[in-house]
This record gives sequence, structure tokens and C-alpha cells, in this order.
Amino acid sequence: MKKPIGIFDSGVGGLTVYKSIRDNFPEEDLVYFGDTARVPYGPKSPNTIIEYSIQNARFLLQQNIKVLIVACNTSSAVAIPYLQKLTDIPIIGVIEPGAEQAVISSKNHRIGVIGTEGTIRSNAYTKAITEMIPKAKVYSHPCPLFVPLAEEGWHEHAVAFDIAEQYLSFFHGKDIDTLVLGCTHYPLLKETIQKVVGDKVQLVDSAEAISDYLKRFLPEDSDGQPGTNVFYVSDNEEKFSEIASRILLQELTILKRVKLFESWFIDR
Ligand code: DGL
Repeated sequence: MKKPIGIFDSGVGGLTVYKSIRDNFPEEDLVYFGDTARVPYGPKSPNTIIEYSIQNARFLLQQNIKVLIVACNTSSAVAIPYLQKLTDIPIIGVIEPGAEQAVISSKNHRIGVIGTEGTIRSNAYTKAITEMIPKAKVYSHPCPLFVPLAEEGWHEHAVAFDIAEQYLSFFHGKDIDTLVLGCTHYPLLKETIQKVVGDKVQLVDSAEAISDYLKRFLPEDSDGQPGTNVFYVSDNEEKFSEIASRILLQELTILKRVKLFESWFIDR
């Protein structure tokens, strides 16, 4: 029996990760959970992010998944060791794949990282990169306004460009040759970010990096059938569905709302 891959994010942003996995693994069944009731995770404290991440993981483990993908960079940065205590199945966050890709891409080992406040505060990318290349220089900067811009569909708007110029001026004079898009939403602003940083800087999309990484962990249990897609959210299905169809360029067929507080707190 084919078991699904579980993916969770704080909301819609993780659909960039879902899309990469769907494109690369067409026969896999995917179950996605977006915690739309409690997004954003970026400005929240590590304890809260860990607590929410444990609840999200528990919900997906109930769906009999074979691998858990933590699509949210902020959760990946702080919660993975706690999630690992819940299960024996592989748990894959986006930090390691993104860091690995950055190390492969960088020639001068001067690497920029952008993400939410929580991800940047955790130093998770810096740690992962310098574990691979101790002499690497990693420059990190939070870009919180990129999240609502992507959700509004304003990723190529003049406002997005102005904001990107402000944030990314942090990297002036730092001579980076690689910039990690360390947040689920940032791949949606890829073109704007590339325009601002210029062609000499290679962008690393952690949503894309995870698919290559996942191949190492995926058990061979394909039945040759096209994979199924089920989406769960904790609130506001309509808004999720609207943004999702913009990101995925198709309508979601199965989308359900989970009663977060009633069911999850009972079995804790
Ligand atoms: N999913 C989050 C991340 O990748 C971005 C949105 C949020 O702040 O919750 O860090």
C-alpha cells in the first residue's frame, strides 16, 4: 500500500515546496497541511513555533504518512529536533537542502540568506553552511514584508521592487555570489529579487532544493498510479484556495478544514 508524503507549512507559502515535490514525484500521494489560523510563524517566539509545529506534525502523522516535510523555514529552523521525538519516519526540513545547494553554488563562499525574523534569529542557515564550509562568510537579513506581498500577488509590483531594494541594500559591498531564499514565499518574488541583486548573484530556492534531497529518503513503493493530492487548512479555506490557484495555476480539488482546537488538544 502506497503511503502519502506529509507536508506542512504555516499557511500557503509551503505550496512552493508542494509544487516542487508534485512536479518531481508525480506518482506520490501528497497530504498538505497549512496552518492558516495561526500564520505567520515568522515573528513568533521559538517556543510557540515548536508547539504549533508539534501539533501540525501530529495531525499529519495521523494520516499515516511515510515522510514528513517541514516546508516552513521558520519551523525547520527551530522545531525539527522536537518533531524527531514524535516518530521514526524521516523528517525533512528545508534548511539542510537549501544550505547544501548554497554551498554547491557558491564559488567565493560569501553567501547571503534572507528569511523571516524567526529563521534569521535562529542562525540555522549560518550553522548549516559553516558546518559544511567552516570558512564561509554568511550574511543574513530578514525581509518580513515579502510574505504579504507574495500573498497579495504583488510580487512583480513596483512596491515589491522598492521594498526589495531597501532590504537587499544590506548586501551591498558584501560581495556575495549566492543568495538563499530562506522562506517559503520568497521564490514567488524570485524575478524581482534577481533584478535587484543582479545576474552575478545565484539565487537558491529551498523549495526546489528539497526535491533532490527527498530522493535520498523516499522508500520505493510506487504503484505506477498518478499521485493524489489532499489539502487541509486550519482556517479560511476560501482565501487559501484563491492564493493556491494563483501559485499552482490550477484549482484544488480536495480541501478540508481541520478543527484545530477541538481535536488536537484532546489527545495531547
Ligand atoms: N512559511 C514561513 C517560512 O517559510 C513564512 C510565513 C510565516 O511567517 O509564517 O518561514
